[in-house]
Amino acid sequence: MTKITAAITGVSGYVPDYVLTNKELETMVETNDEWIVSRTGIRERRILKGEGIGTSFIGIKAVQDLLAKTNTRAEEVDLLICATTTPDMVFPATANIICEAVGAVNAFGYDLQAACSGFIFALATGARFIETGRYKKVIIVGADKMSSIINYKDRTTCIIFGDGGGAVMLEPNTEGLGILDDILKSDGSGAAYLNMKAGGSRYPATAETVARNEHSVFQEGTTVFKFAVKGMADVAAEVMDRNNLTGDDIAWLVPHQANKRIIDATASRMNVGSDKVMMNIDRYGNTTSGTIPLCLWDYESQLKKGDNVVLAAFGGGFTWGSIYLKWAYDTVQN
Ligand code: UT7
Repeated sequence: MTKITAAITGVSGYVPDYVLTNKELETMVETNDEWIVSRTGIRERRILKGEGIGTSFIGIKAVQDLLAKTNTRAEEVDLLICATTTPDMVFPATANIICEAVGAVNAFGYDLQAACSGFIFALATGARFIETGRYKKVIIVGADKMSSIINYKDRTTCIIFGDGGGAVMLEPNTEGLGILDDILKSDGSGAAYLNMKAGGSRYPATAETVARNEHSVFQEGTTVFKFAVKGMADVAAEVMDRNNLTGDDIAWLVPHQANKRIIDATASRMNVGSDKVMMNIDRYGNTTSGTIPLCLWDYESQLKKGDNVVLAAFGGGFTWGSIYLKWAYDTVQN
């Protein structure tokens, strides 16, 4: 029997219009453009403004565009997984809200939370549904409205994060293209260094938790940085070794966009030149589950059928992972 792999057959993205520049952040906290650019590579990030608008807004925009680009009727979608750390509500799942809004009436949907590794975890999970042969069209969304959980008085976190996301279509492939390998890892001891303490079942919201700013991201930056540099590079190197790939074989590295210095360290460990590294951190900052689909969206026209692509991410949990895939299509230039 021919082996079925799960191939990405379309990509889309969405970023909100509002641009929060480093200059504007200088008016909000004690920071400066030079520090932010040199320590992170970020120049600006997008912010989703408007009352009562959550992560689903980003996901809906991305999925509507994806359906149009791939000539897919919403009723054809079998499954939609939404990777997010900022769901619209604790429940129901944001995936269900997206399915309802786009008319994916035959799909089942659920959310997957793996912080900044969310998109990679969701992509690997979605691929398994395709590989069984039972599901034909699976959409993976990675989206976050990070501004909803950021304390804009904390200069150690508010300069990093932004809002945005994207979506990919997964379909069966029998030409040996698509997702060929993945390595996913987690280590719960990382919870102490990157978390949002309140709002869950352990510390439900009270006036006190709000007053103590426990509904926003806490990060011990330097500790996370050290784990991220090692974790992301190790797992990307492992996926390369396992598939007998050298830096020369890789057409594109698609890294989670948390810090340009972490991305550079990963590329250097993989022996991949900077011209083969997708990077848009300067424009969008860290959109958590959104970074990798937003990179694929930005660079889609440069990807070619058969390209060896390595995705890599590290995030809260800790969670980290890498996916090796062969790109499945050439973009038709309009
Ligand atoms: O995506 C999920 C996983 N997250 C990550 O991968 C993020 C990993 N961590 C990082 O990217 C970096 O640790 C940060 C960008 C968060 C911080 O960079 P850093 O080089 O680790 O800085 P630091 O925390 O060691 O701080 C260095 C100095 C400190 O001042 P002193 O103690 O040397 O006087 C900070 O108080 O920089 C100061 N500082 C700032 N200065 C200007 C911290 N934040 C700022 C700021 N503007 N925004």
